[in-house]
Amino acid sequence: MTSRVALVTGAGRNVGQGIAVALAEAGYRVAVNDLDDQRAKQTVELISGSGGTAVSAPFDVTDPEAVASAVAQVHQELGPIDVVVNNAGIAEGGMAGPFLDSTPSDWHTHIGINMIGAANVLHAALPGMVERGWGRIIQISSGASSVGLNIGVSFYGGSKAGIEGFLRHLSREVGPSGVTVNSLALGLMDNVGTDIPTMKELLAGIPVGRLGKPSDVGGAVLWLCSEPGAWVTGQTIHINGGSVNGR
Ligand SMILES: NC(=O)c1ccc[n+]([C@@H]2O[C@H](COP(=O)([O-])OP(=O)(O)OC[C@H]3O[C@@H](n4cnc5c(N)ncnc54)[C@H](O)[C@@H]3O)[C@@H](O)[C@H]2O)c1
Repeated sequence: MTSRVALVTGAGRNVGQGIAVALAEAGYRVAVNDLDDQRAKQTVELISGSGGTAVSAPFDVTDPEAVASAVAQVHQELGPIDVVVNNAGIAEGGMAGPFLDSTPSDWHTHIGINMIGAANVLHAALPGMVERGWGRIIQISSGASSVGLNIGVSFYGGSKAGIEGFLRHLSREVGPSGVTVNSLALGLMDNVGTDIPTMKELLAGIPVGRLGKPSDVGGAVLWLCSEPGAWVTGQTIHINGGSVNGR
């Protein structure tokens, strides 16, 4: 068990909630961020109800001032942040569809949440980690970062590739200060719903024969945060049940 502090963005439901719960079960005191205050509170209640420690930290990751003030607030409530999991990555309204049907506003939305949002959180939380000589940065990415897919996710996938690239550079800057920086590129998760028409074909492309669960991602996050995970940095690790089509 640990007594470290973790901030998980977009943790009001699904993948982010699973990560927050896994961290809390391992003893982390967790700041649960979400744009939606009610969702953040639900995750806090889930964790508190199981005896863990969590506080709600509602803010929009794309707003640098809101991020800076929330990080200071978390420091006051729980202590200095040791772990950041940048999970918020799908803006309300979802994907843009085919590129030729998209607008500049759609492009800004994907870059805003996946690149600028992640950078905002890191810019606020990293200085303390560097000063204390220990930290873990984990970016939740997607297989769409590294494989071309004709399913209407081109700018989303591009923004995931962008953040992975930035973090590889960042890992070199902060590695000497005891901070590791990695991305987890997820395959198809169980919150996509099982009623989509192509589900049978999608499942056939996943060697382990099932969609991902939030706890699968939580387990990978815990390993990267652990001391045995300390020699891993600057990497993108694919968590996808063995699928090779990037989803
Ligand atoms: N679900 C999948 O199949 C899948 C596959 C690959 C990668 N991913 C990645 O996993 C992560 C989580 O996906 P999910 O399916 O759980 O998403 P989700 O949409 O179910 O939940 C994300 C949460 O983020 C919050 N959020 C949205 N914009 C925000 C902002 N600006 N600031 C703070 N919070 C914000 C939402 O309110 C929501 O509660 C994302 O980074 C996504 O790209 C998901």
